[in-house]
Amino acid sequence: MFSLKDKVVVITGAASGIGLATALRFSKAGAKLVLADISENNDVEKATGGIFVKTDVSSEKQVQNLMETAVSHFGRLDVIVNNAGIAGTMGEIADIEQAAFDLVQNVNVKGVLWGIKHGAKHIADGGSIINTASYAGLSSFPGYGSYTASKSAVIGLTKTAALELAPRGIRVNCICPGTIDTPINVGAGELELALTSFLTPLGRIGLPEEVASLIHFLASDDSSYMTGLAIPIEGGVSAGIGLGIIGGLCEMLEKRSPA
Ligand SMILES: NC(=O)c1ccc[n+]([C@@H]2O[C@H](COP(=O)([O-])OP(=O)(O)OC[C@H]3O[C@@H](n4cnc5c(N)ncnc54)[C@H](O)[C@@H]3O)[C@@H](O)[C@H]2O)c1
Repeated sequence: MFSLKDKVVVITGAASGIGLATALRFSKAGAKLVLADISENNDVEKATGGIFVKTDVSSEKQVQNLMETAVSHFGRLDVIVNNAGIAGTMGEIADIEQAAFDLVQNVNVKGVLWGIKHGAKHIADGGSIINTASYAGLSSFPGYGSYTASKSAVIGLTKTAALELAPRGIRVNCICPGTIDTPINVGAGELELALTSFLTPLGRIGLPEEVASLIHFLASDDSSYMTGLAIPIEGGVSAGIGLGIIGGLCEMLEKRSPA
């Protein structure tokens, strides 16, 4: 079950966080890994027995080279995890500047676009492509304009690619994580992370390993009837308002009302 034995897998953003947790999990499941990142991490290469291809995913040429390297090294390609991404500059729409906006779209949107475009040329029929979007691509927050725009675009690209590649039996899905404990959130203060935990029905932020297990399922043949989906993994946030929030609001209102 969930076997990835001898499947050749490209993972972008593999040097850290969700990509790293996915690489470690996939290697235990028997996959042959091609690890891509803009920053080198020899530890992930050693720990997984994969090959590392330094890649800036915003460059079409470099992503084309990544996919060609995977096939020339391992002879085939079965799974692509287009996961590399950045948070970019947060700020209200009134303050968004073109260069900062373009940078987030170049990495988060074009990284996935080039991964699908050049990956699809090589991936075997029946293969699986998983893109990392975000819960912020489904539901926004003040100050998240650039990031939300990029992740909504990833969801749109995922659906289009799923339709275009379905005749070859290639499935394309994306995942929409809520806040996950990875270095991408170093900019967030302790208060923001505590608030996120409070707003999450399960009462905590997620772990990269928990996201990797969803990616694993989508990569495996066990998810063979799933394509074109944007799957939230966010501790219950999209289910509605949790008891933690209701309790907190009741306390606040009780304090406000006269005795
Ligand atoms: N952690 C979260 O809270 C969260 C929530 C929702 C979605 N995501 C998404 O998950 C994905 C992985 O992020 P993470 O949380 O593991 O963060 P992370 O910072 O730990 O990992 C991101 C990796 O992407 C790499 N990267 C950045 N720009 C790149 C580029 N141009 N080319 C190649 N590699 C590049 C980084 O070097 C890093 O290794 C991202 O797409 C992110 O937007 C994260």
